[in-house]
Amino acid sequence: MRHLPNLNDLSTDEIQNILDRAATIKANPKEYSQLLSGESLAMLFQKTSTRTRVSFEVAMTELGGHAIYIDWMTSNFVLSGIEYETEYLSRNVSCIMARLKHHSDLEKIISASQVPVINGCCEKFHPCQALTDILTVSEHYDGDLSCAHIVYVGVQNNVSNSLVSICSKLGIQLSIATPENDDQAESVDADIQTIISSSDRIRHVTDPKEVIGSADFVYTDTWIDMQYFNNPDFKNEKETRVKQMAPYQINKTLVKDIDCKIMHDMPIHDGYEITPEMVRDPRSIIFEQAENRLHAQKGLLWWLYDQAGTISI
Ligand code: CP
Repeated sequence: MRHLPNLNDLSTDEIQNILDRAATIKANPKEYSQLLSGESLAMLFQKTSTRTRVSFEVAMTELGGHAIYIDWMTSNFVLSGIEYETEYLSRNVSCIMARLKHHSDLEKIISASQVPVINGCCEKFHPCQALTDILTVSEHYDGDLSCAHIVYVGVQNNVSNSLVSICSKLGIQLSIATPENDDQAESVDADIQTIISSSDRIRHVTDPKEVIGSADFVYTDTWIDMQYFNNPDFKNEKETRVKQMAPYQINKTLVKDIDCKIMHDMPIHDGYEITPEMVRDPRSIIFEQAENRLHAQKGLLWWLYDQAGTISI
């Protein structure tokens, strides 16, 4: 059975197949309104979400299925063994999507599940976001995607890790403009670091100005992971991080005269990684990108259910 813990586990053809399915459903959604009729998706959250929750729930509804929101803290996942709760879940639903703090817990869920499991974002990977990002890039780039140049500006994290995965698989040029990585950061993944250091399509620079001039897409994300952003215990570290990250802010000076699209996976932290005027700049495709979470989710669900042999088209 196939799961989606991260994109490294998928072949280039499989990733392309998911993106093609997403585009197909997006072009003609009514034709797929019964694709997942009678199917149920459990959506398990240890962390906050707007887009991941809404897009998966609406995707299931629009494909004829049903989604169930499960908050970790108010369910018995908080009391019992993750394996027991998962084994039960997978007897009552046909797919599980989980947003967890630790990838190791996702691996436990995959081990205990009898149905496909999707990573809805952990500390290391955000595969659903990366599928959305490349669906969006493909809609806004004329020509062969291997000629497109994406510049990610910010901190190396789960979002940039999954961008590295998908760009290396699809042969898309990606520049990661971030400070030197902290080897102890929870998002660091050895396989991703190997791809960055060995791929001729992916490069890391510390100065965004080195690469931004040739960007077709400039992409940013939060400087501080969601569970720490409003945490008073993280106040000092947050202040240090904000000072360090100032040269990486997407603002009118950094992208002046650059013919690029501006991307952000949201939620936006106004005045930190991006200024409000750049969110509303004519080059911004941030809201198209966010809308595409829905369409990418549908492509992924179609592919996963197809792989599981649960549906027949
Ligand atoms: N980009 C993203 O995953 O959004 P949410 O955290 O709101 O789900």
